[in-house]
Order: sequence, then structure tokens, then C-alpha cells
Amino acid sequence: MGRVSEKIILVTGGAMGMGRTHSELLAEEGGTIIVTDMNVEEGEAAVKRITDAGGNAEFMPLNVTSEADWTSVCDKIVAKHGRIDVLVNNAGILILKAVEETTEEEWDRIFNINVKGVFFGTKAVLPGMQKAGGGSIVNISSIYGIIGAPMAAAYQATKGAVRLLTKATAVDYAQYNIRVNSVHPGVIDTPMTKDLLHSGDEELVKAIMGTTILDRAAQPREVSFAVLHLASDDSSFMNGSEMVVDGGYTAV
Ligand SMILES: NC(=O)c1ccc[n+]([C@@H]2O[C@H](COP(=O)([O-])OP(=O)(O)OC[C@H]3O[C@@H](n4cnc5c(N)ncnc54)[C@H](O)[C@@H]3O)[C@@H](O)[C@H]2O)c1
Repeated sequence: MGRVSEKIILVTGGAMGMGRTHSELLAEEGGTIIVTDMNVEEGEAAVKRITDAGGNAEFMPLNVTSEADWTSVCDKIVAKHGRIDVLVNNAGILILKAVEETTEEEWDRIFNINVKGVFFGTKAVLPGMQKAGGGSIVNISSIYGIIGAPMAAAYQATKGAVRLLTKATAVDYAQYNIRVNSVHPGVIDTPMTKDLLHSGDEELVKAIMGTTILDRAAQPREVSFAVLHLASDDSSFMNGSEMVVDGGYTAV
């Protein structure tokens, strides 16, 4: 028996980076994973890796900024599997700029994906979770949603919003046995950060690594274990809380 056996789990941004490793680990632990992403080709490849390894997964295209996509995907999952037990709101983008360099278009784009996407997803699964008697929502924030850092103003504002949207939802829906928690990764080696971490520019890498006391970037799977914990019933008394997975970045 895996830790999420028989759970129906929807992961956003599951084609690449951490979304892909979350999907893989949750499948290894017995979950049925609905991998969603805008990137159909990479999303289908991610699902193939899981099914080739013996896991249960299927791909559905989903742009998290489209409420119509959310309705259609959730309807399809419920028609086929009867319910959604876990939602992992993982899809996100990064813009590295200070306030004065950030345009209105960039501000709106990052808020649409990183915050409105989480709002739409949460809203889409809540009625079904209430009907089914409970569920777990895992929102991917960042340490940049807790502390300040240079050149990431809009991104930090979105991740701070996700942190508190998590707590607000936890407060309102605990009565329905729905738990909502956030995960706060530090510096993780994914397609999002690869141009920075592998730029060969030592000063830049040092600035990105900040105060990571383990002195390395994490592999995405190291964060997936936190997601697995929050998705599983092992975290039954965790609600509205924050799991920091940052190699000690915020400890100093
Ligand atoms: N990489 C890091 O160091 C780091 C640190 C802290 C938090 N995070 C957060 O973790 C999450 C995953 O990051 P990652 O590094 O794996 O990113 P990534 O760029 O490697 O992958 C993101 C995935 O999201 C998808 N995506 C982007 N916009 C989308 C949309 N509108 N609809 C659906 N899918 C969309 C992409 O196609 C891609 O598959 C993000 O929310 C990110 O902000 C990352």
C-alpha cells in the first residue's frame, strides 16, 4: 500500500520541473495522477514516464488562468473517477525584476498565473471535495512568499498572496474536512531556474543561492516528499500550515 493509494490527484504544471516529480512520486505511492499543463507534448511525455514505470496517470491540457478549462477538467475527472481527493496547485512563472522595471503587463501576467490560477483551481475542486467528505489542497508558494529578496517584486507579491490564500481557505473549509497547506521551496534546480543556476556566472549563482546553508540547490524530488506528506493522510492534523523546504535558507 502506497501513502496515497486510491487517491485521485490533480497536479497543475505537471509537465516539467517540480510538477513532474510531484506527479511521479505521488504515482509511485499509489495515487492516480491527472497531470495537467499548457505544454501538451511535455505533459504527455511526463505521463508516459509514469505509466511506463507502472504508475497510474493521464494527461489533460489545462491553462490555470482559464476558468472554463478548470470546469471542463474537473467535470471530466469526476465523471471518470467520481471525485478529486487532492489538488496540487503547482503551476507558476518567475519574473526577476524590481518594482520600477516591472510593467503592468508583467504584473498582470504573473498574478494571473501564480495567484488567480490557484484561486480558480481551489474554487473548482471545493464543491466536489465537500460532497466527497474532504480533501487536501497543496499550494506551492516559495520562500520568496515569506522573506524579501532582490529583483523579484511581483513574484514575491504573488507567492505571499498564495501563502495567505492558503490560510484563508483552510479557515473557511476545515468544517468540511478539507485541509489546505502551502509548500515553500528554496532554490531548486528546474527548467525555471536552470539558466540562472547553470549560467556560469559565479556572482549570479551566489546571489541566487543566498543563505542556503546546505550550500547547494535541491533536486525537484526533494520537494516532492513534502507534497506527498501534505497530500497523504499522514498530515491529517496539518491545516493552514507552511512546509519550508529550503536547505536552511530562511534559518539564518
Ligand atoms: N524552481 C525554484 O527554485 C522554485 C522555488 C520556489 C518555488 N517555486 C515554485 O514551484 C512551482 C514549480 O516551479 P518549477 O521550478 O518546477 O517551474 P518550471 O518552470 O520548471 O515548470 C512550471 C510548469 O508550469 C507550467 N505552466 C506555466 N504556466 C502555466 C499555466 N498558465 N497553466 C498551466 N501550466 C503552466 C509550465 O508549462 C511548466 O510545465 C512554481 O509555482 C514556482 O513558482 C520554484
